[in-house]
Amino acid sequence: MNAPVETPLLGRPLLEMRQVTQTYSLARPTLLGTRPSLTVLDHIDFDVRPGEAVGLVGESGSGKTTLTRILTGMEKPREGHVFYNGADIWDGDGERWRTFRRSVQVVMQNPRSSLDPRMRIGVSLLEPLRSLKIEGDHATRVFEVLDQVGLSRQALERYPHEFSGGQLQRIAIARALMPGPKVLIADEPVSALDVSIQAQVLNLLKDLVNNLGLSLVFIAHDLSVVAYTTSRVSVMSAGKIVEVGKPMDLFVRPQAEATRNLVGAILTVESGLAGNALA
Ligand SMILES: Nc1ncnc2c1ncn2[C@@H]1O[C@H](COP(=O)(O)OP(=O)(O)OP(=O)(O)O)[C@@H](O)[C@H]1O
Ligand SMILES: [Mg+2]
Repeated sequence: MNAPVETPLLGRPLLEMRQVTQTYSLARPTLLGTRPSLTVLDHIDFDVRPGEAVGLVGESGSGKTTLTRILTGMEKPREGHVFYNGADIWDGDGERWRTFRRSVQVVMQNPRSSLDPRMRIGVSLLEPLRSLKIEGDHATRVFEVLDQVGLSRQALERYPHEFSGGQLQRIAIARALMPGPKVLIADEPVSALDVSIQAQVLNLLKDLVNNLGLSLVFIAHDLSVVAYTTSRVSVMSAGKIVEVGKPMDLFVRPQAEATRNLVGAILTVESGLAGNALA
């Protein structure tokens, strides 16, 4: 097993959201003709520093993916701000936006839906360079990234259906690395994978933080998975951050009810496994 992710000294946040609130209007008006809205994120503060791995954990529907969409600029928040390198991403020129888009990349839960099934892997890997208009020696960049994620060059000629889920998630991570990001945001990157290969993908993400100095935002339902990969964890419940702490402190002295529930879920699973082993 490789070394734990250490948090070196970190300086100011590289990517941060301050007091972000997101509401959605519900499609159907009420009988009175008003259109109710749903507050999905409620005055959220969240940040990651250079080279830091942070976690975000919370029950289903607590707002984690909405936070991801706002942190990556896919959605503009109704209130509040997102800063990259100290500058508001929604309040700058095209050059600032381009830098932000290259610098913050995301890995989603299901690699099969994030890769086009009709495209060879090599073409998929080049696609972010084309869409972000990044110039340079693209072939060299592809080989470099394949090495970083532990894939052979033969992968380039193949199609997604020829790979297992774990290999495909490696390819999705490679694709996210292509533009040379400073921050990787992984939204439930192992929850669609077989338990037996989850650890490989988690170790790869840790290695990328340690070897490339990337910042990582790791999002999951499961506190133990987040604890393995990160050094500071925010717990989310019903659109709010209810607790922030080091993983071990959250395990040993959970303060918020949502944190206690997440710790309880792990203990229940473990007792269940132990029970099965004894049966
Ligand atoms: N575009 C939208 N319009 C209306 N409601 C939305 C929209 N996107 C998300 N929601 C609602 O916001 C809430 C939070 O959703 P979100 O997907 O962010 O949660 P999550 O924590 O990622 O959940 P999961 O763990 O299941 O992935 C849910 O109630 C969801 O139905
Ligand atoms: Mg989600």
